[in-house]
Amino acid sequence: MKQTECVTIDGPVASGKTTIGKELAKRIKYHFLDTGIMYRAVTYLALKKQINPNNEDLLMQSIKNLNFIFIPNSTEYEINLDNKTITQHLKNPEIEKHVSTIATNSLVRSELVKIQREIAFSNHIVMVGRDIGTIVIPNAKNKFFLLASSQTRAQRRYKDFKKQGINLSLELVKSEIENRDKIDTQRKESPLEPAHDSIQINSDDMNIDEVIELMLNNIEKNK
Ligand code: DC
Repeated sequence: MKQTECVTIDGPVASGKTTIGKELAKRIKYHFLDTGIMYRAVTYLALKKQINPNNEDLLMQSIKNLNFIFIPNSTEYEINLDNKTITQHLKNPEIEKHVSTIATNSLVRSELVKIQREIAFSNHIVMVGRDIGTIVIPNAKNKFFLLASSQTRAQRRYKDFKKQGINLSLELVKSEIENRDKIDTQRKESPLEPAHDSIQINSDDMNIDEVIELMLNNIEKNK
């Protein structure tokens, strides 16, 4: 299969995929798509409309109401519902609690993967998620898998919540991260796992710039 110029970054909750992916995309002048926000948007609608997570018809209908739009003069995409962006509502703890369950649904996954592939087909893109290197763009030229301990990840997520004015204990944040890891890695459909040809990076003792440098060196080598 011909390789595409995409960069994939997969990894568990709060492993730094979004921060690093966004910065990498800016440096190499690619688009950036965080696929987690797509699963979060479906969860947002399911909660708002009180859709039972087992009601696949209603979940599929709700995906049809969402629009994934590139923001002009940026590297990023936003999600619109009824012509209004909902991106800013997608990182709250209520969505965090339910999103992994919604993401186990195979119909939801295949619909979102279809949209992700369409975007990857027409753009040079850094795409981040759980199954991008394994399922969504298996022929991507550069694949990375980010790792960090659950303690490091909990501390990062705890600080993010605090910045948003949300006060949760570090223990609670850590146990929810571990719970989501379990669901993401053990689900039947596209479980979280490194692609066989991905480069695994443990960022416990690395800062953002060091991780990006390592990625840029690999991308350069692969040219
Ligand atoms: O990266 P995130 O925390 O925003 O992802 C939210 C959830 O969506 C995560 O628990 C698993 C799911 N997800 C997925 O299954 N596949 C993806 N490509 C991206 C996210």
